[in-house]
Amino acid sequence: IMTTNGVFRPEMRRVPTGELLKPNRKTNGVGVQAEDTKICVVMVGLPARGKSLIAQKVVRYLHWLSIPAKTFNVGQYRRTATPNPSAEFFDTSNPEGERLRKAAAEAAVNDMVKWFSEGQGLIAILDATNSTKSRRRWIQDRCQAEGIETLFVESKCDDEDLIMSNIKEVKTTSPDYVGQDPEAAAQDFRNRIRNYEKVYQTIDEDEYDLTYVKLINVGKRVVINQIQDYLQSRVVYYLMNLHIKPRSIWLSRHGESQYNLSGKIGGDADLSERGEAYARALPGLVKQSAGEGRKLTVWTSTLRRTIQTARFLEFEKLEWKALDELDSGVCDGLTYAEIESAYPEDFRQRDEDKYNYRYLGGESYRDVVIRLEPIIMELERSENILIVTHQAILRCIYAYFMNVEQERSPWMEVPLHTLIKLTPKAYSTQEERLKADIPAVSTFREKGSSAKHQEGDAA
Ligand code: ATP
Ligand code: F6P
Repeated sequence: IMTTNGVFRPEMRRVPTGELLKPNRKTNGVGVQAEDTKICVVMVGLPARGKSLIAQKVVRYLHWLSIPAKTFNVGQYRRTATPNPSAEFFDTSNPEGERLRKAAAEAAVNDMVKWFSEGQGLIAILDATNSTKSRRRWIQDRCQAEGIETLFVESKCDDEDLIMSNIKEVKTTSPDYVGQDPEAAAQDFRNRIRNYEKVYQTIDEDEYDLTYVKLINVGKRVVINQIQDYLQSRVVYYLMNLHIKPRSIWLSRHGESQYNLSGKIGGDADLSERGEAYARALPGLVKQSAGEGRKLTVWTSTLRRTIQTARFLEFEKLEWKALDELDSGVCDGLTYAEIESAYPEDFRQRDEDKYNYRYLGGESYRDVVIRLEPIIMELERSENILIVTHQAILRCIYAYFMNVEQERSPWMEVPLHTLIKLTPKAYSTQEERLKADIPAVSTFREKGSSAKHQEGDAA
């Protein structure tokens, strides 16, 4: 299913079935052969340039791909000694401020080095302004001595209106300003930025030996230097696709299918009568959720039930093979009860580790995440998208946006006939659910159960 460098090839999807295959063969995540790789992503830039947001997104993306990553936020270290500093604290002519800030940076770097030395870490993110050449050189030297590669990520932005709105959106509610008047906090934060501006040095030709990416005005221009390996280029590619325009992503499963009614999994069945009713109701639900006249694009899988569900939506549509349901291999077309009796050991193993369990001749949730990576990348680049897809696929996409851990994501309830709206905000994703008033069976199977699909809550 994967080539050695972890690239999913849809044409390699058919794995031979039969006795050659052992049940529950596990994959090793994205196939990154990286025992020795340690990368420190060093954020660079003035305050309120989205560094923390970028750091948080990169970590969420890497965790979703099973790449161990962790952010070390120097602000949090600084806050233990100086919880509510005023702008003067950040004036470089204030020696006490300078001393405490350097101490916070050192504590963060020390903890990062310790985290790497403990074994499992692959990518650390050092989230601070790191806005002078000397600070960057110090980090570079320190990492080099520890065998850690560095990737500097500078966010540069001179759009004053955007910066002001960033300050209002996230800085006035920062723990630095608890209990303070938001107007006064915003003014103080502007002054803090002025103090940083006095000494800020953008990454330039003097630092030609550093590996870096400069994102200028939210990716309008991107400058890349000395990117060395696969994992670095993957992070850079992700960063290049990010935008912060307001938008939403809607997720819906297909309407109830004939297979859902009979409790069978997989297949390429048509919609049931109630599934048809959901398809007819969907344009109204979308209008209710998105508002009149909102432009969006609809993505479906290549299977009949999603295409049929989307067919009354008057938007541009795209079919993606990558959105097809998790391939249940030899179990395709069976009910859970039939699987339990034909493959009892498999059935038990799937319950034990549902994320990693790969159906005989089929896929695991882990496999699905890998084939969904291009979907996530395209979603990051896009604006309003409505995805009509399948239970397992929806769980994986939802897990990316809502940061759901792997033990839990395959067990999430995502009922039929429900439209989920996800709206990315600065540090989180907002969720709303809209149920159609059309009953459907529940296809949710609890751990240990092979009960027949029952009527769900009349949605
Ligand atoms: P600080 O140095 O104070 O920690 P920061 O650079 O980490 O600041 P964030 O706290 O991440 O800034 O700011 C988040 C805000 O920045 C959000 O409102 C987000 O929309 C916006 N933002 C995200 N990416 C960018 C970008 N590339 N350029 C400018 N603003 C951005
Ligand atoms: O039953 C509907 C369905 O989409 C099946 O086609 C698919 O195998 C299953 O859900 C995925 O859910 P789970 O991973 O919980 O079995």
